[in-house]
Amino acid sequence: MSQAPADAERFTEFVTRTAAATEALAARLARRLANGQTLALHGELGAGKTVFARGVARGLGITEAVTSPTFTVVQEYPRPDGGWFYHLDLYRIAGARDAEAFGIEDYLFAPDGVSVVEWPERIAELLAPPPGGVARLAGRLVAVYIAAESGGVRRIRLPASWADGLETEAAAVGPAGRPDGARAPLSQPQHRVIRHHD
Ligand SMILES: Nc1ncnc2c1ncn2[C@@H]1O[C@H](COP(=O)(O)OP(=O)(O)OP(=O)(O)O)[C@@H](O)[C@H]1O
Ligand SMILES: [Mg+2]
Repeated sequence: MSQAPADAERFTEFVTRTAAATEALAARLARRLANGQTLALHGELGAGKTVFARGVARGLGITEAVTSPTFTVVQEYPRPDGGWFYHLDLYRIAGARDAEAFGIEDYLFAPDGVSVVEWPERIAELLAPPPGGVARLAGRLVAVYIAAESGGVRRIRLPASWADGLETEAAAVGPAGRPDGARAPLSQPQHRVIRHHD
């Protein structure tokens, strides 16, 4: 069930016990993402990738309903700051060639948006580090691994460089510095963090 990160990057593990806690964690991470960056969400069926994507959307200030674009492959959401949030679900994509034909590269490093990809394994060749993968992706890809356990427990690994301080930060309500959409900060962290799994 758990998938080992493909590279030697250090990861920080968070443990959530509810979908709301996963969403809140993702919303915090979202505040650190800039246009041109892509989040690759790894995890089995039902792991919580769409829940995480919804949290990213919330963190980017999107209020409309976020559901998985399994049949449409991509769903585009305008953000209140003028940028875009692109939610891709590659479950039904046969492989990298299929994805390229669909125009995936326009989303992987869209200069006007943040992208989140469910089932990134479908395009593993494109996401691999150069020289095998798409060179322009280097430094723009953030890998997230979600593993489900019984009772709603999810182990969520984020690259340590992105995870620093996330557990204590107030819930994200929009891109950093946005004063609108304020929501009460969480008084208690809703997840437990286990540092630095390699
Ligand atoms: N701690 C948790 N974090 C996230 N989801 C949780 C958690 N506990 C329970 N769940 C439930 O697990 C399910 C996750 O579903 P979700 O659609 O996000 O999975 P997915 O990884 O996107 O699946 P798929 O591969 O079909 O796209 C939801 O029903 C959610 O309510
Ligand atoms: Mg999904």
